[in-house]
Amino acid sequence: MRPAAGAPPPIGIFDSGVGGLTVLRALVEALPAEDFVYLGDTARLPYGTKSASTVRRYAVNAARHLVGREISLLVVACNTASSYALEAVREACPVPVVGVVEPGVRAVLATGARRVGVIGTEGTIRSEAYQRELERRNGGLGVRAAACPLFVPLAEEGWGDHPVTDTVAAHYLGPLLEWGVEAIVLGCTHYPLLVPSLERVVGPGVRLVDSASAVAAAVQADHGALLTGRGCGQVVVELTDGSEHFRNVARAILGRDPEHLELVDVNHG
Ligand code: DGL
Repeated sequence: MRPAAGAPPPIGIFDSGVGGLTVLRALVEALPAEDFVYLGDTARLPYGTKSASTVRRYAVNAARHLVGREISLLVVACNTASSYALEAVREACPVPVVGVVEPGVRAVLATGARRVGVIGTEGTIRSEAYQRELERRNGGLGVRAAACPLFVPLAEEGWGDHPVTDTVAAHYLGPLLEWGVEAIVLGCTHYPLLVPSLERVVGPGVRLVDSASAVAAAVQADHGALLTGRGCGQVVVELTDGSEHFRNVARAILGRDPEHLELVDVNHG
């Protein structure tokens, strides 16, 4: 859907699926006078199991598509794409690009934890983007990372509070808990959807940190001049593969229906 003539440029956001909606929710809450266009690259989900070069190609195509929608800035609400493709997306885009890794690292450092766990997709963990950024900002921390490949399908299925997710989480997080982890950064935007199960498994002594509100704060702090103040929190959702399921999950996360939802072709090469 093209914005009406004279409408303020929206903030563009993309993820492979529903996960980035957790970031969108934080943005809508923090910036109620902006409009948003969210691209879910559902035809290519998951990104987390793909190679770096494939993720870069998908991410650049998604970003170019959103740039064509005349956005004011772009939020890469996908850790896998932020880990592998942020530079490539920046090179391909004439607008500022905000990733999720740096804000996530800032948020976990703010907890003061000395033993930090990083969980994410296979791609994000293999890229070592979090481990490098944590080391760069505070070389004295203990850092351990764990890939949790079954978490994305569980989140897409809506099993955030489910005994199966508890079992899978106990398997993935057990080694971090035995090590004495104090805070775990949720290095995948799908994982906040699993927090009820994850909290049960880690217990009250371990902080679970997600980057959504830190991303919203980074947009306000670093790109305040691009905010229009003329929007009304309108959310347009575009998907590369359609499903009623996405609409239901979006409604549950945002607490309302998006104003508009449509299928698009982002012309992947
Ligand atoms: N939500 C995406 C992330 O933050 C990944 C999901 C996927 O594997 O596509 O990494």
